Amino acid sequence: MATAATRRHYLMCRPTYFTVSYAINPWMHPDVAVDTDLAVAQWENLRRIYLDLGHEVSLIDPVPGLPDMVFAANGAVVVDGLAFGARFRHLERMPESTRYLEWFKTHGVEVGVRDAYLPLAVAEGEGDLLTTPARILAGTGFRTDPAAHRELEEYVGREVVSLELVDPRFYHLDTALAVLDDETIVYYPAAFSAGSRQVLGELYPDALLAEDADAVVLGLNAVSDGRHVVLPVQATGLARQLAERGFEPVTVDLSELRKSGGGPKCCTLEIRPEIRPEVRSGAGRSSDAR
Ligand code: ARG
Repeated sequence: MATAATRRHYLMCRPTYFTVSYAINPWMHPDVAVDTDLAVAQWENLRRIYLDLGHEVSLIDPVPGLPDMVFAANGAVVVDGLAFGARFRHLERMPESTRYLEWFKTHGVEVGVRDAYLPLAVAEGEGDLLTTPARILAGTGFRTDPAAHRELEEYVGREVVSLELVDPRFYHLDTALAVLDDETIVYYPAAFSAGSRQVLGELYPDALLAEDADAVVLGLNAVSDGRHVVLPVQATGLARQLAERGFEPVTVDLSELRKSGGGPKCCTLEIRPEIRPEVRSGAGRSSDAR
């Protein structure tokens, strides 16, 4: 059963310069027209939903020539006030890395982030690195390098479990798996290798399993506050499954951003300030953010 909602703090980037001008995943077709105004309106609706749910939303300035910067989830993963930055796989997105890292360096104190670190290996933030209280679930296979999983483990001092993605449509972990509350996840089994399916089955015997029809509309790209789950409106079966388990589905249409392979979760970077200092003492080595 769903737990209570907790207030979250998100970082988002308005899609002012959004378009699809290159293809780095199977969803992207530069020859298909993109309506940037519609993308902005859909994104504004998502932001409004978060505010109406009582969450806090910070904004990072979009940059001309970086059309995928709207996918803030890829900019970092923030755990216990430690921002583990991004190193992108593709040339087109590489300049986003310093924008996000700089944001955490300059706004860190305000938002409860005490350190920011640039990984050595390819790491695409919360796109592949999903935090739960017990462990961090880490995707690999298309973008994030397994070496970055180990770097993250050292940096934040939490267990990181590597999961292998095998279907290029589900190129980031957050397109195939969502964390719903402290113990519950939902995932699309076919996106994972046999070994990773077994690991997930053992760690999460009560997980919700998504159907093909919901996975192929990026339904797994969902954001939960422990009770409300913001997910693509097209994922009708998943919304029903969530409601059956006591969650409250909140649907949103991000059809323009889906032309780049993105959904609500991709647009949302959760800032987790340092909490539970008694548990954390000793963990998290300090570093010079390079
Ligand atoms: N076009 C972007 C890319 O391929 C989409 C990123 C979506 N972000 C995510 N967290 N899944 O990199």
